[in-house]
This record gives sequence, structure tokens and C-alpha cells, in this order.
Amino acid sequence: MTVADQHAVSASEPNTLGYRDYTLGEFQFRRDEYFAYITWPTGSHMMSVDAFLRALQRDVAWDFFYGTVNFDGVFGTVNHYGTVDIFAGRYNEAYRKAELDYSENVETPLIGETFTSILEDWTNETFDPFASPHETGSAFGVKNGANTRAVRRERVTAKRMVGLPGDAPLRGDDTHPVNRMFADVAQDEPVVEAEPGFEGGVSSFNLFAYLSRSDVTWNPSVASACKDSLFCPTTEEYILPIIHGNDRVEWFVQLSDEITWEVEDRDTGAVRARVVMKPGDVCAMPADIRHQGYAPKRSMLLVWENANPDLPDLIASGRTPTYPIDF
Ligand code: PHB
Ligand code: FE
Repeated sequence: MTVADQHAVSASEPNTLGYRDYTLGEFQFRRDEYFAYITWPTGSHMMSVDAFLRALQRDVAWDFFYGTVNFDGVFGTVNHYGTVDIFAGRYNEAYRKAELDYSENVETPLIGETFTSILEDWTNETFDPFASPHETGSAFGVKNGANTRAVRRERVTAKRMVGLPGDAPLRGDDTHPVNRMFADVAQDEPVVEAEPGFEGGVSSFNLFAYLSRSDVTWNPSVASACKDSLFCPTTEEYILPIIHGNDRVEWFVQLSDEITWEVEDRDTGAVRARVVMKPGDVCAMPADIRHQGYAPKRSMLLVWENANPDLPDLIASGRTPTYPIDF
């Protein structure tokens, strides 16, 4: 047991399949060979355990992200940056009408430690929740070891920019071989000739080469930061494991290949749009929707985030619009 388990996390002894059951507030979590089961006072839910672990991995690694992380149309979390709502059916019109929805607000460290413990206990040695389905083994079956190295991967968060002295390093063959789908991506690096005195402040790198070496999917890295303006490039393959309900506008720049986005109303799940993005396309996702991406081949996407902590309040109170720009 980790220190966190002893202090806050409520877990059973391993069940007959080798997995622990968990309790967080009025929510209960258990898994068997194929499924994750969630119960709350007014209902219950099941998800394929591979999909559950992929969503859980991102919720944990992103510290509950911006706004809402829907694991599917029923279960998920809303980040209030210090506390987190954990909900079932809250953003599902049918559950709401039937009054089966349920939500609880918990301190971020408690849900963080509980979700981390579930992720570590339920992920078998063969499964990597961040990898594309083609590049990981199975999530299923009875308890079979652990994949601690994979589930504790740290998200890249550059303070200024990848490649600057003391900041997130560039990637090379030793740690990050070029992905099978990006074998044709040029690996040359720009030559930077800084004036004396500016060596630590002038930098440049080949973003395509950097992304071609990503070993994970659907995991935006902060590759550069200018005040609240964060460039978060990522490589995508198969399906974004969460349906993201944002609390602010975010921009997408499609750098390679193609992604289809299913866009729904954030609160009800009603279908609003399908956006097909091809290389060079730019789009902005409004702040009142939720979205999930589908990438038939590994593709490169630049997600541009505005990390201003005032935005959720400004938008929720109507002082800032839910759309990005007036023409
Ligand atoms: C998003 O929700 O906007 C998002 C999340 C993960 C990605 C790309 C986009 O890899
Ligand atoms: Fe998003």
C-alpha cells in the first residue's frame, strides 16, 4: 500500500480476480475481466474496462483537465480547480429527466489519489492506456502484474519551450524512436545562430520531428508557453478516450492527416456538428460544447489552450462569449 492509500483512499482487499474495489463518497468502483462497474445512490453503470482505463489515465495525468471529462455519455468529472465534481448522468438528458443523475464534489487530492490507485491496481502489465490500440496488449482478464512505468508517465509541460536550456528536452532515438506511421517525417533540425548574450533565449526546433517520436496518443503536451497561451501539440490515433466538455474556447490546428470531431451540446449531449479536419485546417471549439475526435491514422494536432484561470467564471457569467471571435 502507498502512503496515499493509508491516508485517504478507501479500497478493499483484492477480490477473487485479484482487483481491489474502491469507494469514493457515495460512488463505488469495481472491475472484472471485461468491465468496470460504477454504482451511486440512484443508479449503476458499466463500461468496457479498456475504455474506462484510457479515460481514467487522462483524467489523472491531466489533473482533471479543463472543465468536464466525460468518460462516456454517463460518467465523468468536472474540474473546479481545487475541487472536482464526480458525476453520473448529470450531463445526460434522459438521466436528468428520470432524476437518476447524481453528483458529488470532492477535494482534488482525494479524487486524485483514489483515481491514481484504481488506475495502478486495475492496469495489467500488458496494457498501456496511453498507447494506440495497435501498440498495446490487452486490458482484459484476471489481475496480471502492473504497468507502473506507463501509468505514471509524466506529461510534458514546457515552462517556456521544448528544447530551451533547462526546459523539456528534445526527443532522440535512445528514448523516443520514430513512430511506425511517421517513418517519412524529416528529422533535420533548424540551425540557430544567436547573437552573443541571447544563447539561452533564442531557440527553434522541428515540431514535426518531435511529434513523430511521440509514444502516446491523445495526450497534449505543453510544448511552448507564452503567459496564458499554451501550444499543446499531440499525436492522435483511433478515438479520443474522453468526451471533453470545455469551460473555455480552444483552437485546433490540424498539422497532418485527418481527424473527425463529433460535437455535442455540453449539457444534454444533443448532436450539434461533425467537423472533419484535414491538414492545414483550423477550427475553434466553442465553450458550450463537448467533443470527441476520431483519427483513422496517426495524426498530428496542435491544441491551442488559453490557461487564464478567470475564463470559466467569465464565460459562465456571460461576460465573455462562448464563441471565440466576431467577424
Ligand atoms: C481536447 O479535448 O480538446 C483534446 C484532448 C486530447 C487531445 C486532443 C484534444 O489529444
Ligand atoms: Fe477539448
